[in-house]
Formats: sequence, C-alpha cells, structure tokens
Amino acid sequence: MKRYAQIVGWGKYAPSKVLTNDELAAMVDTSDEWIRTRTGIAERHIAAPKEATASMAVQAAREALAVADVDPARLNLIIVATATPDYLFPSTACLVQNALGAERAAAFDLAAGCSGFVYALAVASQLIAAGAYELVLVIGSETTSRVVDWTDRATCVLFGDGAGAVLLQASEQPGGVLSSVLGADGSGADLLIMPAGGSRQPASAETVAQGLHYARMDGREIYRFATRTMSKAAEQAVQQAGLTLEQVALVLPHQANNRIIETVAKLLKLPEEKVFVNIDRYGNTSAASIPIALCEAVETGRIKPDDHLVLVSFGAGLTWASAVVQWGAKVKVAPPPWWKRAWYRLRDLLVALRSLWRRYLRWVDALHGEGEG
Ligand code: UT7
Repeated sequence: MKRYAQIVGWGKYAPSKVLTNDELAAMVDTSDEWIRTRTGIAERHIAAPKEATASMAVQAAREALAVADVDPARLNLIIVATATPDYLFPSTACLVQNALGAERAAAFDLAAGCSGFVYALAVASQLIAAGAYELVLVIGSETTSRVVDWTDRATCVLFGDGAGAVLLQASEQPGGVLSSVLGADGSGADLLIMPAGGSRQPASAETVAQGLHYARMDGREIYRFATRTMSKAAEQAVQQAGLTLEQVALVLPHQANNRIIETVAKLLKLPEEKVFVNIDRYGNTSAASIPIALCEAVETGRIKPDDHLVLVSFGAGLTWASAVVQWGAKVKVAPPPWWKRAWYRLRDLLVALRSLWRRYLRWVDALHGEGEG
C-alpha cells in the first residue's frame, strides 16, 4: 500500500517585539517609503534577548502538536531547517527534542538557507513514504536579527525573526506532499554568506573587527537568481504532481521581496488571489517564512480541504526548492479543549523538570568521579 505524508498539524511563532520601518529609519539611512516600495515590508518581529532559534522552534512545534493532538513522545524524527542555529553544534533540533520531551525522536538540522523548510519537507515526506517513520516534525526557525549588521541598510531592513512548524503523519489516504523539486548552484555561494565563525575562518578578534560574522549579500544578483529559478521550480513541482497550474488553489512563495513575488506570479500567469503574501508584517524570516505563511493562510481561511498548494523558495547556497501539497480533507482545525491545553502545559513543565533532574544527576556523577579520582 502506498504511503502518503499528510500535514496533520501546523504552528507558528513570532516574537512580540515589532520593529517598524520608521524605527529602522532612526537607526540607518533609510526610509519607510524606500523599504515599502522596494520590498513590500512594513515591519518585522525581533527576538527578545532570552529567545533564540530553538526556543522559537519549540513554540511553533508545540502549537503544531496541539493542533494534531499528538504527544511529543510519539515523534520519530525532528528536522529543524535553519541558517541561524543556536550553536554550530549541537544541532538546534536536539535542543528542540529535549525541550519537547520527544525521547524517541531522532533529530537533525538542515542547512539550505531560506529553502531549508521545503528541503526538509521533501526529506521528511520521502522518509515517511519509504516506510521509515510515522510522525515527523518539520520546523523552519530563524533568528536573523543576530546575524545581520544593524549598520548595513542594504541588509538590515530585509530580515525578521520567527518560526513555523508542520507535523507530517504517514497515511494511506492520498494527499499531503505530492511532489518536490530541490536544486542548488554552489557557484553562487559567496552571494549570500556569513564569512566567519565556521571552520574556514573561525571567529577571532580580527574577524569581529572586520564584521565578518555578519550576513553579506549581493542583493541584485540574488534578486535575478530568485526570479530566474522560482517560476521554473514551481512549474516542475506542479508537473511532477500530475497537475496544471490552473488546478492549484494557492501558491506560497518565500517571502523575501514583494517585487520578486509579483514577478514570479506574472511569469506563472497567476492572479493575485492565488498568491499568498504576508511579507509586510514579517520581513524575510528565511527558512521560517513558508511555514509561517502556511499557518496564516490556514488561519485566514485561504486554504480549504483538498486544495492543492505550491510552496516555492530560493536562498543561500544558492538553493531553490518547491513542493506541491494537497491539504488534508480530514485534518482538524479546531484547537484542543482547555483541559488538554492545560495538560500540555503541565507536561511541558514536567519535561523541563526532568531535564533539570538529569543535569543534576550528571553533576552529582561528575562530583563523585572527582572525589574518587
Ligand atoms: O532570502 C534571500 C535573501 N535575499 C534576498 O531576497 C535579496 C534579493 N534582493 C532584493 O530584494 C533587492 O535587490 C534589495 C531589496 C536588496 C535591493 O533593492 P534594489 O531595487 O535591487 O536596490 P539596489 O541594490 O539596486 O539599490 C538601489 C539604491 C542604491 O543607491 P544608488 O547606488 O542607486 O544611489 C542603494 O544604495 O538604493 C540604495 N539602498 C537604499 N536606500 C535606502 C540600498 N538599501 C537601501 C535602504 N534604504 N535600506
């Protein structure tokens, strides 16, 4: 029997702090008018000092698990797509696994820049189709505010922080992720890059003085690349799914620049109402942008059961990715009742206490070791 990867849960998280274009104009030489007309962005969310990629991913993941009414202990795999992990190692996915108490889940990060979420969706759905896993959590989470140079007006106005997650479940009911197209062109690696902090140029006083720990971007070249690849990738995924663009209800493009989205829509001859845009309120949240858009599209009634959706992205690498998803007919939209939400809260608290207890035991063990040595 053929296995399908259905989306049964979805969730998003955006930090409460909102940074407007006018506030940015007080920081660098820019204006609300320039940012709006060149990008479509009006404001973006910025993580609080205590927040980071893993903590935002956990918030989005908890929402997705609650929608699906699935206990994290049942998860088989967690993939976090991110270009801004908490650490180079361990993976952000392992931090999320621990915070959720998903003891049986394997966990890894996936790095494909802004295309990371669609890449991760493709990997997860193939693992499900192959029979390896039943329940896979796919998260896109980014704290771009920690890697942009807040004195560089060409980049700092574009990005924002946030996270989005979907829960994929194996099903015999046709639907879910129907096709995916992944691509890369590493010859464009230097067009969007954080030069220092990895093994090529470890962080040092010198790299910090030169600002090499910030994202550097050739905006114009990336713009050209995006318009060149996105429409092609979307068409390929639609064709692979055995559909035509007329049968697609909604396209959810990576939210990087409204002008890029408009160009892609024109190339695909899509009417405005078939293209989802929320860049005005989020900016470019990199790998989080498509799952956040997906959640908003569901919440605002833009997606109905059985709808065919196209997700399409481009990003650092350079990479591109697209997928066709058929929204599940039976997936629940209503949030769980209050007593279940209360139980989830209590369970999260117990998981946090257990994690602390394990740390304590390791500390006691280490003390013993020292005493014996
Ligand atoms: O997820 C992938 C991440 N990256 C992207 O998606 C980036 C794709 N590229 C873009 O979205 C656009 O190229 C940008 C929004 C980055 C730039 O828009 P553009 O229309 O390509 O502008 P430009 O780079 O050609 O710059 C036009 C002018 C320049 O001034 P001069 O040389 O014409 O005098 C810039 O210095 O705009 C100036 N400029 C700004 N002015 C006010 C650049 N950034 C700003 C700014 N405020 N923030």
